[in-house]
Amino acid sequence: MEFLRLLLVFLHLLGMALLIGTFMLQAKAGPQAPVNKGWLHGTGLQLLTGLILMGLDPLNDEVSYNPIKIGIKLLVLVVIGALAIAFLRKPAAPRWLNPTLGALVVVNVGLAVFWS
Ligand code: HEM
Repeated sequence: MEFLRLLLVFLHLLGMALLIGTFMLQAKAGPQAPVNKGWLHGTGLQLLTGLILMGLDPLNDEVSYNPIKIGIKLLVLVVIGALAIAFLRKPAAPRWLNPTLGALVVVNVGLAVFWS
């Protein structure tokens, strides 16, 4: 069970790296570029791994997650996914979109690390 939790945390951290990498690619592509699909892949990976980690929590004696913190992280992730989907079919993403999505990812990293 502990190995499964560690594997999910491992994938969850790779998902975070994917979102930050997508932010950099989107910034490099410039203002005329469409929304990078990495936003959707990273959001999906974070959602899946985060929900399974939460689901495993009652089975594990050692860890107990803060439900308010996880709820806020989930809300932030839903906003990231919804914004990415809303502009997916547009030929060019609006200028404010990439910094907003990047800032929301950083908010979730901060919540994960500083709120115990
Ligand atoms: C942009 C979205 C997200 C980012 C960047 C993110 C980032 C992180 C990071 C960096 C950690 C490790 C914290 C540490 O070990 O001190 C973590 C842990 C965790 N995250 Fe997320 N997260 C995101 C979304 C979510 C969502 C949506 C959920 C739940 C539905 C979730 C559930 C969890 C759980 C349960 C842990 C604890 C894992 C453990 O140590 O056993 N995360 N997250």
